[in-house]
Amino acid sequence: MALRIAVVPASTKAGRETIRQLLEAESKPFVRGIYRDPSKAPSDFAQNPNFEAVKGDVGAGAGLDFSSADAVFYIPPPTYDGTDQGEWATRCAENVKRAIRDAASVKRLLLFSALGAQHDHGIGLLRLNHISETILRDAAQEVIMVRPGFFYDEFAHALEEARADPPAFHSWITPVDHKIPMVSLKDIAKACANNLLVGPGKPSPHVFKLFGPRNYSALDVKEAVEQATGRKVELKAVERDQLEGFFGQQIPQAHLSEFLGMVAATLPGGIIVDDFEDDESTMRGNTELVDGLRELAAK
Ligand SMILES: NC(=O)c1ccc[n+]([C@@H]2O[C@H](COP(=O)([O-])OP(=O)(O)OC[C@H]3O[C@@H](n4cnc5c(N)ncnc54)[C@H](OP(=O)(O)O)[C@@H]3O)[C@@H](O)[C@H]2O)c1
Repeated sequence: MALRIAVVPASTKAGRETIRQLLEAESKPFVRGIYRDPSKAPSDFAQNPNFEAVKGDVGAGAGLDFSSADAVFYIPPPTYDGTDQGEWATRCAENVKRAIRDAASVKRLLLFSALGAQHDHGIGLLRLNHISETILRDAAQEVIMVRPGFFYDEFAHALEEARADPPAFHSWITPVDHKIPMVSLKDIAKACANNLLVGPGKPSPHVFKLFGPRNYSALDVKEAVEQATGRKVELKAVERDQLEGFFGQQIPQAHLSEFLGMVAATLPGGIIVDDFEDDESTMRGNTELVDGLRELAAK
């Protein structure tokens, strides 16, 4: 019988692309996407008979109906509304845990996490993921935790900057040859769908890192942006002492310090840098950065 899979919040980037992958799977699973606003479900999902969008909110704990689901995919959403990130992470994860407990059918939980989530300090905003892992590590018979690299999609701004006049690209990844793990949403969706449908066949909880084919630096991003847009761009490195001013224009003040903590953790000397190397738990997708950016540029 086809599996039934619940995805929450379905409007996250990882949730959306994994649903797309699941709906294309040969085994034809049934997917329940849980949205704060179900009208936000993409129209191609809404027209698919194997998909339903239902209203639910992980923060409020309302509408987390996992009844008849075999597997649950939870992507902890960060909050930027001034709520303490730790309190938020705990509340959401406890709500998910309770909802799984109330649904006897759920055998498998896939938790979307982040590099460095094993640490209880020095990771800034990513304590969202540390807390989620801690609370949910035994929430179902089989728990799988994926720690992906930085999404290629986060460079959509670089494509916009490249189209401006003069074309320039601001990068917080310094020094400009410092390589960090990055990955496409396509590779994320494939790995997540496969783990939800088949599982890793490893003892629970199973944790794995998910990267693109190789790690990339700001110089690599510049080159990929140039290839994707056909324009020469100037790389403007945002040095460490400029990060607060740079991100202060994008991140609400209440969350800025933790956001900067996350950035610092990925720069040389940061606690997450040790995780950038491959080990036996690393899985690498095959979508190159330039191909991911080409696809983004075409949208
Ligand atoms: N971005 C990356 O490069 C990256 C890399 C590694 C790991 N991660 C992890 O991926 C996770 C998602 O992070 P992200 O920044 O990429 O977020 P995202 O996928 O952009 O998701 C944020 C969305 O979650 C939904 N949401 C927020 N609060 C909600 C609630 N109470 N109930 C239901 N839905 C809610 C909102 O959609 P609506 O407004 O439509 O409801 C919001 O747009 C985090 O745990 C992060 O650590 C991200």
